[in-house]
Amino acid sequence: MMKPQTDVAKSSNFFWWIFGSVSLALTLPYTIFSLIWQFKQSKLKNELAGKVVIITGASSGLGEALAHTFYMAGCKVILCARRQEELERVRKDLLECHSCVPTHPPVVLPLDLSDLNAIPEKIQKILEIHDHVDILINNGGISVRSDIVSSSVDIDIKVMLVNYFGSVAMTKHVLPSMIKRKEGQIVFVSSVQGKFAIPNRSAYAASKHAMQAFSDSLRAEVHKDNVKVLIVSPSYINTALSLNALTSTGRAHGMTDSETASGMSPEKASEDILKAVLMQQKDVIIAPLFIRFVAKLRHLFPEIYFWAMQKRAKKLAIKMELDEANKKD
Ligand SMILES: NC(=O)c1ccc[n+]([C@@H]2O[C@H](COP(=O)([O-])OP(=O)(O)OC[C@H]3O[C@@H](n4cnc5c(N)ncnc54)[C@H](OP(=O)(O)O)[C@@H]3O)[C@@H](O)[C@H]2O)c1
Ligand SMILES: *[C@@H]1O[C@H](CO)[C@@H](O)[C@H](O)[C@H]1NC(C)=O
Repeated sequence: MMKPQTDVAKSSNFFWWIFGSVSLALTLPYTIFSLIWQFKQSKLKNELAGKVVIITGASSGLGEALAHTFYMAGCKVILCARRQEELERVRKDLLECHSCVPTHPPVVLPLDLSDLNAIPEKIQKILEIHDHVDILINNGGISVRSDIVSSSVDIDIKVMLVNYFGSVAMTKHVLPSMIKRKEGQIVFVSSVQGKFAIPNRSAYAASKHAMQAFSDSLRAEVHKDNVKVLIVSPSYINTALSLNALTSTGRAHGMTDSETASGMSPEKASEDILKAVLMQQKDVIIAPLFIRFVAKLRHLFPEIYFWAMQKRAKKLAIKMELDEANKKD
């Protein structure tokens, strides 16, 4: 025979019943939603198999991570950058790291984005190998660590040439074949500095703002040809970008800034870019909440943004003076 329940046991049963129902009501829709989302993404991911993907700046950092991500998804990747030996290393890594994944051998294609005249023949070469291009990822780029007054216009031209004109030239020469097939996707790797500029980065921010404008015009123009355009704007990623950034003397910065070092991993950024490509998104910011907030603030309350940047520039000037004084000692 069952013992009669005490009042305490009864009320604790009631508590668990309420608790269970409430948490189920909260988590069930979320679980179902995320399962559908994941299912959709994995289904779309299968569609990437065999796609021809050009990645510029594939010899290091984000481009290298993108090479792994798209190669793993079964793509025919074409790795572009200036340093052939680094591209060969990435190619070897792909073959070794993912040896059990049935994919297509990566192609190495050395190119200099600032050599605009050489770009048409490079694209021609790709079209001879793979017949068409499905996705172009304009990722190659350089940054700056230089103030406006002490750096010559050569710095601005160099950065604009690689980041902006290089990507424009790649896009223009890939487009005709995409339009002909009525299929394709062009990806621009911009930066949150394509949304708002900060001091000591004028040339870089300008090149990324230009990229934003170009991609917005392009998206509208090629919509009728079923060519999709995506621009991604990440915040700090832990790569060699600040190491290679140009200073006012035209030489490399040669240091990894603490902001860059504490940035997200290139793998995380590249997974997010893959998702945006799969979902055919148009304009994606990959950044912590605060940075997204600043991007909104720039347009909603510009005066606050101007004030904050003045403070930042002042701090930089003091730091530069201190550095100078230390050098003299
Ligand atoms: N790291 C960040 O915090 C961050 C944040 C937002 C956006 N991004 C963007 O992410 C992209 C990749 O940068 P990363 O962070 O991965 O830096 P990274 O490690 O320095 O990689 C830059 C890549 O661009 C290539 N490149 C540079 N100049 C080139 C040229 N003239 N011609 C062809 N390729 C060239 C480099 O290869 P070679 O030297 O072999 O040519 C390298 O593969 C850039 O567009 C950058 O603006 C980076
Ligand atoms: C700002 O630019 C100057 C060169 O003009 C450079 O020496 C300095 O290191 C830069 N500061 C930072 C914090 O990047």
